[in-house]
Amino acid sequence: MLDLAAIDRPLADLLARELEEVTIIFERQLASELSAVNGLCVHIEKYRGKMLRPTLVLLSGLAAGGDPCDGSALTGQHRAIAAVCEMIHMATLVHDDVLDEAEVRRRGATVNHLWGNESAVMLGDYLISNAFHLCSTVGDPAINLALGDVTNTLCEGELAQLHHRMDLGLDEPTYLEIIKRKTASLIGACCRLGAKLAGADDAVGDALHRAGIALGVAFQIQDDLLDLVGHEAEVGKTLGRDLDKGKLTLAVIHCLGAAGQDERGAALRLIERGDAVALREHLEQRGSIAYAAAAARRFVDEACAEFAILPPGTGRTLMEAMAESVISRRH
Ligand code: FPP
Ligand code: MG
Repeated sequence: MLDLAAIDRPLADLLARELEEVTIIFERQLASELSAVNGLCVHIEKYRGKMLRPTLVLLSGLAAGGDPCDGSALTGQHRAIAAVCEMIHMATLVHDDVLDEAEVRRRGATVNHLWGNESAVMLGDYLISNAFHLCSTVGDPAINLALGDVTNTLCEGELAQLHHRMDLGLDEPTYLEIIKRKTASLIGACCRLGAKLAGADDAVGDALHRAGIALGVAFQIQDDLLDLVGHEAEVGKTLGRDLDKGKLTLAVIHCLGAAGQDERGAALRLIERGDAVALREHLEQRGSIAYAAAAARRFVDEACAEFAILPPGTGRTLMEAMAESVISRRH
């Protein structure tokens, strides 16, 4: 668990206060006159866990806004866009749980599990619609366009992933392209928009965008590793879904690619049988878990190299700590 206060308490406290404001904006935006709608919105409050995306919007603003890191670089627009990014993220999770037929998220029952697919699809639509409604209040069409690009891109990522379901020949570049679109595109936008709203120039915005993309790729590689080797009680969501749904992730792709004909046959049999425990052991023995972890490490290093464009200071240090936390997390 990342403890920002151990690195810089005043900045961590500032971020915590800003995130409370973001939460208020988020809840105000979703509030409906209908209790049927509010009941669902209250349920998904527990999905707001790490608040990684809003934190990246705010922290990118602080870090790119120069010293002093006292919050003066942050505006109401930062808070609104931070809430928008979290809302987009939640919409994707609610829809993703329908696609994955997942029953548990953040240690609670999923919307689809409790209320069925129809309600989950509509709630995801309500969230995405509200995200763009709130975004429009910021009054900058370039931001609407940028986030519209992101939602197009993440849908493309999901569609490509569906296309490659049970594709035992899926290669690493295609896997990386899918996760760049479905996960990293939003994280890249969070970093770029936070910097842009703090008045940073395009070079800084571009560098933070690249950093966010690298971070997002590392995040998804770690997420996929947890799906294979994590413990459900610790991770807090349904695991083993990637295999069940025919989604090949980096460790499995490495194992199948590196194996000789006989060993490939053995791994394929484990996948076809859906034998998660034996497959996990096989991947560990083949060095495929370590291979995926090392790839995630390289993407975090790539992100940190991009942070070098930021003025040295606590803002940059916290960004680096956030990057590290993406691969050290166990949930
Ligand atoms: C998590 O994957 C899923 C995503 C990061 C993106 C999901 C996107 C969609 C379903 C498209 C929805 C589009 C809109 C506009 C609402 P995962 O299953 O690997 O992660 P998990 O382990 O958290 O379930
Ligand atoms: Mg899922």
